[in-house]
Parts: sequence; C-alpha cells; structure tokens
Amino acid sequence: MTLLDGKKTSQDIKQEIAEAVQKLKAKNKKTPHLAAVLVGTDGASMTYVGAKVKACELVGFNSTLIDLPEETTETELLNEIKALNENNDIDGFIVQLPLPKHIDEQKVLMAVHPDKDVDGFHPTNVGKMALDLPTFLPATPFGIMELLERYKVPTSGKNVVVIGRSHIVGRPMSILMSQKRAAGDATVTVAHSRTQNLSKITKDADIIIAALGIPEFLTGDMVKDGVTIIDVGITRLEDATKKRGYRLAGDVHFESASKKSEFITPVPGGVGPMTIAMLLQNTLLACSRK
Ligand code: GUN
Repeated sequence: MTLLDGKKTSQDIKQEIAEAVQKLKAKNKKTPHLAAVLVGTDGASMTYVGAKVKACELVGFNSTLIDLPEETTETELLNEIKALNENNDIDGFIVQLPLPKHIDEQKVLMAVHPDKDVDGFHPTNVGKMALDLPTFLPATPFGIMELLERYKVPTSGKNVVVIGRSHIVGRPMSILMSQKRAAGDATVTVAHSRTQNLSKITKDADIIIAALGIPEFLTGDMVKDGVTIIDVGITRLEDATKKRGYRLAGDVHFESASKKSEFITPVPGGVGPMTIAMLLQNTLLACSRK
C-alpha cells in the first residue's frame, strides 16, 4: 500500500509556485494577489480560509481576507464582489462556501468575474472545463488529478467510481476523469444517494473517489484488492479524548479500506492540502495571464 501524501506533494507544488513568483516579480514587477471572502463564523470555513491566506504568504503572494458578519445581506455581498471584480490589484478571489441560508449561492457565484474566478465555479468556467478548454479548474478535483499524475497512478481505461455529485467535487471530478488528459481517460460512473446496490459498483472499481460527506462510509468490504481510494471527505466528529474536542474523519473507513488498497489518501494530509496548492496555482495563472 502506498499513501498518496497530499501534504508532501502540496509542499512540492508550493515550492514550484514560489519559484515562479520570484521570476514573475523580477520580470514583470507583479505579485499575485488572492482575496478571500468569508461570511459568518463557521468553524471549518474559518480554518480553511485561514489556511488559504497563510499559504499565500508562504509562496510570496499578497492576500486579502474580507471577513463579513453572518447578517451580511445578499446585496452587501454582491457589492463586495463588484468591488473585487473592479479592483485591478486583485488577480483572483474566492467566496468561501457554504454561505448563510439567506444568501443565494448561485447568484453570488455568477457575480464573480470569470477571469478572477480562481475557484472555477462560474458557469462560464464550468462550461470551458466541460469542453476541455483552458480555464481555472476547481481546486479539489484539480488537486486530485495532480496527485494521481504525480504518483503515476494508472487511470487510462480504468473503472473510476465517483461517489457524490456535488458541483464542487463529484460532478467536475467525473468530467475531468473521463477526458483525454493526464490522470484521465477513464471509464467513469457517478454514484450518489439514490444509487442502488452501491457495493456491487464499488467492488468493480479500480479507482474510487469518495466525496459524499458521510464519515467512514466506504469500508474495506465494499472494495476489491488493489483498489486506489481518494478520500475527499472531512468531517469533525466529537471526541472528548482530543484536545480540540473533535477528530477529523474522512468518507473512508481507513483501517479496513487501506488493507485492500494499492494507493490511498489519508485524512488529514491527503486531498485537503492539495486543494489549497491548486488554488494558488490558479491565482498564479490569473496573475500571469493578465
Ligand atoms: N467550500 C468547500 N470547498 C470549497 C472550495 O473549494 N472553495 C470555496 N470557495 N468554498 C469551499
């Protein structure tokens, strides 16, 4: 069994980005600048946004955190987005999801200018991705493709099962894996909450991408020997024995599933750090193509 080490791989990528930033600064006198908008005080979202801002510092980017209260209205948020779209100093920005219930998420994502949409969530960029045109790939699927490629996990012609059909992970993942690209070229099945006899499908899979958001859902008895497992889930489970009062669980029951795996990602230290590295990669692209 080989661990797909997202922590180490993301450090390699961040090192490559840091070198590219130095070159960009010397040549064009430009420093990539990422802004992140956070609405409310959701614990996990605060952690993720904090990690994104810290990663910017590490690679030599400028970063701006726009921290808005939970009561922010949709109009106020749309005004912030308009200001970021028009601010020439900002190369790209993200609006951390989920948003409070009184705000229409789709309306907000549509308001981000596609050239600054480093999350790759705008319909224009989703369409370009689906057509295999150059664009910002959504960071989590992009990170998974990069991890598979760097570890040379065979994907061409393989049976890939994506569990989950979210707009952020499952759907784009299924599109990318089916395309003729490095770490793609696979035969893809998308399973979800209405799928019948899931075990029958997962047992036939060479690669499983678990992105359904149910902790420790995929167990060893659901997979075949030699499988590759990518665990996208990250849920805080209460655990009084831990200092913070919780532990992090993926969508995969690691202990049983890893025994059958050729390659598997850990949680934490798998997909999570890769997501951040690819957001930086997209921001570098946004800055260098301006
Ligand atoms: N929430 C969970 N994943 C993501 C992501 O990749 N980007 C943003 N903006 N919010 C998220």
